[in-house]
Amino acid sequence: MPLPKNAYISDVWKDGVFDNKVVFCTGGSGTICSAQVRALVHLGANACIVGRNVEKTENMAKDIATARAGSKVLGIGAVDVRNFESVKKAVDRCVEELGAVDFVIAGAAGNFLASINQLSVNAFKAVMDIDVQGSYNTLKATIPHLVKSAAKHKSDGTTPSPTGTGGRIVFISATIHYTGLPLQTHVSVAKAGVDALSNSVALEFGPLGVTSNVISPGPIGDTEGMRRLAKGEARKRSEAAVPLGRYGSVKEIADATIYIFSDSGNFVNGSTVVVDGGAWRMQSGSSGSGFVYPDFLLSGEEVTGVAGLKKSKI
Ligand code: HXC
Repeated sequence: MPLPKNAYISDVWKDGVFDNKVVFCTGGSGTICSAQVRALVHLGANACIVGRNVEKTENMAKDIATARAGSKVLGIGAVDVRNFESVKKAVDRCVEELGAVDFVIAGAAGNFLASINQLSVNAFKAVMDIDVQGSYNTLKATIPHLVKSAAKHKSDGTTPSPTGTGGRIVFISATIHYTGLPLQTHVSVAKAGVDALSNSVALEFGPLGVTSNVISPGPIGDTEGMRRLAKGEARKRSEAAVPLGRYGSVKEIADATIYIFSDSGNFVNGSTVVVDGGAWRMQSGSSGSGFVYPDFLLSGEEVTGVAGLKKSKI
């Protein structure tokens, strides 16, 4: 559904800052990443989003294209970030049809609530494969293009490049591994890996002008992630526990992305931009979903009543 501008971007940015640029995004049909891409498209970029679900990805691409008349947004479905060849093929098609990859958003992720007792070895591996291996696959498939783009769009720190910016990647992470969070072992381990990956990219590719950063959203309203984590009254309590007293909006993550990708982010490399209203500093030891710590774990009960539930074999 076409969205009003104020749902995905603030008024502070200049139209056209991403003219003639191309963004490649995994997990692009998700609520957060689609808003990031929509904002970049609004400001001039063309885009390629990839996802596992063909219909969802293609429909989202059409929808994002409504953000700017004349934009080109490719939606490539049946792409699983766990499969390098599948990502590489999508990147090749993006470059063939749109001409380049100037920006990358590595956003594909998997999540569900489960205690270690409930978490089979395969369940742990599924999230590691999507988040960590998937981010690495995305990096490996796009980095040659980012290096080219960075070389074309250099900035000396004072004079903006006449052709704008390029050669930038952001990884979408989380904050739960800063303190640890029960029922989120798999995601905590995976996101720690994603952060480490971004930091290494910043060191190894910074000398070539590529920047790599992490955006760590806190609780963002109406996302797939929160549907999987929060239920009922617990949502109200967890909103109240955020120092700013509410969940964030996807627009607030999109704004952080523009900050990093545009001229305002020229010297930002190897950083983590936490956009969470101060929430992680208040992390309460409960997953924010009514599974009260430690009572829930001691009760021997299993997680029920949230989206994405599944019974593991082992
Ligand atoms: C316990 C579960 C489970 C659950 C799946 N499994 N869901 N175990 N509780 N709720 C187990 C399965 O039983 C299986 O193990 C193994 O995980 C793999 O499951 P599959 O369904 O075969 O895998 P797959 O189809 O590849 O799905 C991957 C997935 C799924 C991660 C399990 O949830 C998914 O596709 N998620 C993508 C969408 C998503 O999660 N979006 C939210 C991202 S939000 P066995 O042993 O039976 O073989 C986000 C925010 C992070 O990441 C920050 C939060 C604060």
